[in-house]
Amino acid sequence: MSNILVGVTGGIAAYKSAYLVREFVRAGHNVKVMMTKKAESFVSHTTFEALSLNPVLRENNTPTPISHIDYSSWADVCIIAPATANTIGKINAGIADNELLSTILALKCPLVLAPAMNTNMYSNTIVQENIRSLQSKGIYMILPASGLLACQTEGEGKMQDPDIIAEKVLNILNSENDLSLKIENDMLSGLTILITAGPTKEYIDPVRYITNKSSGKMGYALAEEAYKMGANVILISGEVNIKSDIPNIQKIVSAEDMYNAFLSFYNEADIIIMAAAVADYFPVYENKKIKKNDNELVLHLQKTKDILSYAGTHKKENQVLVGFAAETNNMEEYAKQKLEKKKADIIAANDVSRKDIGFDSIDNEITLFFADGSITHTGKQSKQDIAKIILAESAILHSEKNK
Ligand code: PMT
Repeated sequence: MSNILVGVTGGIAAYKSAYLVREFVRAGHNVKVMMTKKAESFVSHTTFEALSLNPVLRENNTPTPISHIDYSSWADVCIIAPATANTIGKINAGIADNELLSTILALKCPLVLAPAMNTNMYSNTIVQENIRSLQSKGIYMILPASGLLACQTEGEGKMQDPDIIAEKVLNILNSENDLSLKIENDMLSGLTILITAGPTKEYIDPVRYITNKSSGKMGYALAEEAYKMGANVILISGEVNIKSDIPNIQKIVSAEDMYNAFLSFYNEADIIIMAAAVADYFPVYENKKIKKNDNELVLHLQKTKDILSYAGTHKKENQVLVGFAAETNNMEEYAKQKLEKKKADIIAANDVSRKDIGFDSIDNEITLFFADGSITHTGKQSKQDIAKIILAESAILHSEKNK
């Protein structure tokens, strides 16, 4: 039995959400409903209270002053049906100017949207861009069907039937539960795992260098969780501010150092996970501090060695190779390119345009692209929990390769 939070926004399809709530309750789940003010002009909150047997989170009439936090932390999954163009746009922009949107912003569980609107609104480029952008952030979409709409036009925009939505939401819930069920405490016991973490520093002269925003938190979370799961961990780390009890930490400064450390250890690794943010270019080093002379200073940069590519080309048949992809746009396309080009088994793609995840954040949200074409969204979680999922998936792949 799971806790399902149903959000209803202001569209004519709001009446269908009563059936959706009934489907979930009939399947034995706990259901709570939240409604925007506009949704209440289509269906009364009392309908939903009667069906869900719980108070509805309403605009200006919340069960408690912090209901948006209570409802968001209670939910195992949240479905917004119907999701209007307005709500979709606001979620994508991170706006929280009503109770429903505030609750969504505080969610820790998977979020599913079932858009419904007039065909012209649905085909509008801005709405389509918002939908794609939310999908790339790991938000699930149950896209509308075509048919005769309430506005008497024929076309796309009709909310899917409640039984279809209910089935898809329950599938998402089950697959997310499967992901956490896959994690076993000792699943890495006896395996050697090589992990890279943190930034590299590329010195320009004795006092200046080029680096990036990596704090090392993601790589260290992987190393610590792997260690707890029984692995023999080799951590190759750039300069970071993290204390760790991992016995084997190889501290490096530059991309060249990381490459050399990698060469010393990769042969003995069963699983290799490359979370470090390695410089792609390094400057030609000047032995003496560069003097200030002209208005312009041109730095000549050369390509660093691509460690992930090297690992992919020299990968042994029974080794598992996991690369990361830090992207600000076209995440899926670039991650898939990296998966193929670098011959990795898994690419963990990170949207680093977001401030709440990625570089130097406590949480992360990853989409895993597997060489067999499958894709898994982790949802937003602590870097420790994300690490557990990446490790569990790597361990499962390793045992499949070593059958
Ligand atoms: O350290 P945190 O603050 O916790 O932030 C975590 C993170 C954002 C750094 C991490 O989650 C992440 O995304 N790491 C990969 C960063 C990166 O350099 O991505 P990329 O898309 O530029 O590189 C692709 C892959 O190639 C990465 O696995 C990288 O380690 C590897 N690489 C890159 C360049 C190079 N010369 N050699 C490499 O092996």
